[in-house]
Amino acid sequence: MRHFLCISDCSTEELNELLDLSISLKKLYKSGGRDVCLSGKVLAMVFEKPSLRTRISFQVAMSDLGGSAIFIRPEDVGGIGAREPIKDMARVLSRYVDGIMARTFAHNTVVELAKYATVPVINALTDLSHPCQAMADVLTIKEHLGRLTGVKIAFIGDGNNVAQSLAFTAAKFNMKLVVASPKGYELDWGVIEKTNGIKADSVSTTNNPAEAVAGADVVYTDTWVSMGQEAEKQKRIKAFKGFQVNTELLKFAPTGVKIMHCLPAYRDYEITDEVVESPNSIIFDQSENRLHFQRALVKKLMS
Ligand code: CP
Ligand code: NVA
Repeated sequence: MRHFLCISDCSTEELNELLDLSISLKKLYKSGGRDVCLSGKVLAMVFEKPSLRTRISFQVAMSDLGGSAIFIRPEDVGGIGAREPIKDMARVLSRYVDGIMARTFAHNTVVELAKYATVPVINALTDLSHPCQAMADVLTIKEHLGRLTGVKIAFIGDGNNVAQSLAFTAAKFNMKLVVASPKGYELDWGVIEKTNGIKADSVSTTNNPAEAVAGADVVYTDTWVSMGQEAEKQKRIKAFKGFQVNTELLKFAPTGVKIMHCLPAYRDYEITDEVVESPNSIIFDQSENRLHFQRALVKKLMS
């Protein structure tokens, strides 16, 4: 496992190993312990888009493990793939640092970085996928439900990057994912076919949110307007009407259903404040687990 670009590139064994490592490092750090396995190692963090959770949790993870991180914005280097080709950036960074993490618009940017880098490359979100988020989500579900096999997740909203990585984790961990989206915003058919090729019928789609949440263990949502889609905001708000996670919708779900959101959450669009703050919400545990998973990931790839 040299790079971490897409959940589908990893075996269930590798993913389970990362989950186990996340749990043991979480325990260690909660009990005041320390593991300096990355002493002297440096992670370059390239960000074409904003971030709170991903940036800070990777930076803390590196420092927790004895290493350090360097934050690079496109304007610092004259644009990603603009002042010089991505392949040159990958090779130059590889001479200085021990790992590269990148959040980009085009998925192909992280693929190109990985192709030419001689150090591990981590996908920290692209327009296509968000594998680090999906692994923190799985960790959270495992902690709260005590199992993964057979867990039903209803994802309400856009069939976006977060939904796509969640689909692959559903297939890899034998969970069931139903993605409820308005017409035209469904999860990509190729992804559904690929995930169901890994594990038959693990992923399905519907245009009916009430139907999706029936029998669900987890109701998950994300923004209707992902980074880079700001020009479509008004059109999207109209299209996603009826796809808000609110108390009305949750009447169709079992009592005690867990609520998840990768954050940032746009109150009164995809989710109400009441649901974010409800006792069933595990959103902030989910957010915390970004750190615990990230520690495991950099340890596994860089030590
Ligand atoms: N969930 C997530 O990736 O958050 P950031 O965009 O703040 O990193
Ligand atoms: N789908 C969202 C996720 C943010 C963490 C986006 O890409 O903006």
